[in-house]
Amino acid sequence: MFAFLRPDLARLQAYIPAHPSGNTLDRLDGNESYLDLPAELKQKLAWMYQELIATNRYPDGGHGELKEAIVAYVNNYKPNSPNSSQHDSQPRITPAHISVGNGSDELIRSILIATCLGGSGSILVAEPTFSMYGITAETLGIPVQKIPRHAQDWSMDLAAADTAIATQEQSPVRVVFVVHPNSPTGNALTVAEINWLWSLPENILVVIDEAYFEYCQHSLVGELVDRPNWLILRTFSKALRLAAHRVGYAIAHPQIIETLEKIRLPYNLPSFSQAAALLALHHQAELLSVVEQVITQRQTLIQELTTQPDLQKFFRVWSSAANFIYLRLQNEQNVDSSQILAQIIQEMQSQGSLIRHTGGGLRITIGSPEENQRTLTRLATVVDRLL
Ligand SMILES: Cc1ncc(COP(=O)(O)O)c(C=O)c1O
Repeated sequence: MFAFLRPDLARLQAYIPAHPSGNTLDRLDGNESYLDLPAELKQKLAWMYQELIATNRYPDGGHGELKEAIVAYVNNYKPNSPNSSQHDSQPRITPAHISVGNGSDELIRSILIATCLGGSGSILVAEPTFSMYGITAETLGIPVQKIPRHAQDWSMDLAAADTAIATQEQSPVRVVFVVHPNSPTGNALTVAEINWLWSLPENILVVIDEAYFEYCQHSLVGELVDRPNWLILRTFSKALRLAAHRVGYAIAHPQIIETLEKIRLPYNLPSFSQAAALLALHHQAELLSVVEQVITQRQTLIQELTTQPDLQKFFRVWSSAANFIYLRLQNEQNVDSSQILAQIIQEMQSQGSLIRHTGGGLRITIGSPEENQRTLTRLATVVDRLL
């Protein structure tokens, strides 16, 4: 009807957000932390709002103080993974290596504008993965090359990736997006995948999204010194408990950052969100102390799903390095998997648990021990009815 709207946008679907707010269900569909900020920190934040923020003034458009705090957080990171590889150098970044976004979603859009807009290239993603790379690219008219993953461990089909890169003459791959660990499948990058990323030529930007790195206890940020074409994306929305405040950041070579800074809107991050992010970093040890419990709960949930006979018969479940787990139907080849999963989601919601139907499977965020237990019991009830 509106001729001024771009016709190619009509066939696209908007991102389906997690849970509607304000309900009392167990919300295990958004991969957030299940814990709010502790009450004393909320009080501190309220005090900061009262005493330090002038609402008539624009926020700090250069994010100066926040960038300094992020630099300290990034540089103090100590690799702590049992399968640490040679790719584990200590990071040495400065504020010039940081751009702050209104969520990492904003940075994803800036990266796409900086690299592929106007017919200058395409992006490569390995599905299933975080959908915003593809959705945002398509809104900008940027082609998306999709390659598959191996279902046994959800690692990328690197041969397919090589072929896609070699054959895109019309629209060469300018950016490869990977998530470490991946959403929704929960797998961390393998050494073979990291080596493959290392082997990519410098005319391809490698974006490593570490939204969940605090749960995986491994980061590739130390590699940036040797890989000027790598960019790490991080967020305050997950382990740092600030999803409501929309703060994300990119870490990359200063020249890449300079370009992202040109693209972003001048006052993209409200003063209140900057204050919340600073507060979270000052209290990072306290906020991150729950990560260990999430990891234990993740194991318990996987254990239950793989030992309770009906659940085990119904679902296949994979190990996870994040704060969520991923399930698929055991017999997905022989049934209308999408319809059954949609029915499960509906029934789970009516029983009180929100979980996510995505990437051809179910993704369940690790919540509090009580939420996890209730959700498991509800899942067993739903499966009993379907068997
Ligand atoms: C892999 C990944 N990257 C980025 C985001 C978005 O993060 P933000 O809240 O900072 O926009 C999400 C959110 O679910 C995610 O799963």
